[in-house]
Amino acid sequence: MIMNSIRYVDQMNIDGKRILLRVDLNVPLKDGTVADDSRILAILPTVQYILENGGMPIICSHLDRPGGKRVPELSLKPVSERLSQLLGEKVVFVDEVIGPNVENVTSTMKQGSIVLLENLRFELGEENNDESFSRSLASLADAYVDDAFANAHRSHASNVGVTKYINDVGGGFLMRKELEALGGVLESPDRPLVVAIGGAKVSSKIDVIEHISQVADRLLLGGAMAFPFLRALGIDVGDHRADGEAAKKARQMLDERPDTLILPEDFAIDDHGRREVDVKNLPSNGNVLDIGSRTIDRFASELNTAGTIVWNGPMGKFEQEGFETGTRAVAEAIAQSSAYSLVGGGDTNAALERYSLMEQISYVSTGGGAFLQMLSGRGLPAVRALSIETIKA
Ligand code: 3PG
Repeated sequence: MIMNSIRYVDQMNIDGKRILLRVDLNVPLKDGTVADDSRILAILPTVQYILENGGMPIICSHLDRPGGKRVPELSLKPVSERLSQLLGEKVVFVDEVIGPNVENVTSTMKQGSIVLLENLRFELGEENNDESFSRSLASLADAYVDDAFANAHRSHASNVGVTKYINDVGGGFLMRKELEALGGVLESPDRPLVVAIGGAKVSSKIDVIEHISQVADRLLLGGAMAFPFLRALGIDVGDHRADGEAAKKARQMLDERPDTLILPEDFAIDDHGRREVDVKNLPSNGNVLDIGSRTIDRFASELNTAGTIVWNGPMGKFEQEGFETGTRAVAEAIAQSSAYSLVGGGDTNAALERYSLMEQISYVSTGGGAFLQMLSGRGLPAVRALSIETIKA
């Protein structure tokens, strides 16, 4: 298992050391303050552990996609204030990422002090995984800890490049929790494993479906994810909804695993409000916004029998009045199930939040893209960079 080939912060000697701590504080901001602090809460155990064990955390993160330039609205300053409140400790915010000022602040840190650097993506070198930028980051600290699972599908300077220039590297507690949750489900799930995939990004998820359909006992496809499969079955869904490439892959999966894939039997379209139609009578230009009642019943009964559940992607446009039914029913069926449940993805987590069901899910991942990439079996470059084999090589 990949998580076993990584050393974690509690296996490192951090006493008296400056620790470059890469976290994912890519949080939504509203009117200059943090609108959702779940990603900040998720990294607190690692920060607290470092402090309690005599380490000095130099925290770094990206926020959004400023594209290598300084964008004042995307400063981590408001995040630094929220982090400080949650920790109950002073956090020294440095409004740069590298340079003499950063070197001065970090080299004079004392035990108990916490530094947060400015948005890594203000520097072009971050996303380019630039060697000299990676070296500069590495030179700030004695050891490196990566707790940014949600960014681990990116191959950037602060999570891949930097590991080449610092000897002592390891993962944080959030990284461990995420890898254990996802690794456990992929490698030894309680069966039946029922996976529900929805959402709109068909091209980026078809590989996930391909991989997970080999592991899952049942794969429920809602939202736009169902269209290539329906098209492959010869159902007229309107070609704009299902590109030919995805439909070819879908055809192959249907041939290989016909009993695993469960497709919608009906949908809800917007016809001056919700109107349900059989999948065979789908108007090719109709606005399909949810799965229909028969599909909801079928999906709920599959979820009721599950030993393990994975869910990513809403079943439709749940934010629109009249079209939340499918997404809400799936969320409720998962919340009520006694199966181990693993949920991930921005929209999916937002749906759970909206229906106040977060607490009833066994594990909610902080990852979106990283969660999906791991489900697709492609592995994560930042996790590979931490693995003991990679470091030795
Ligand atoms: C995320 O929110 O999924 C991560 O922080 C990665 O962000 P990115 O898609 O901008 O690389």
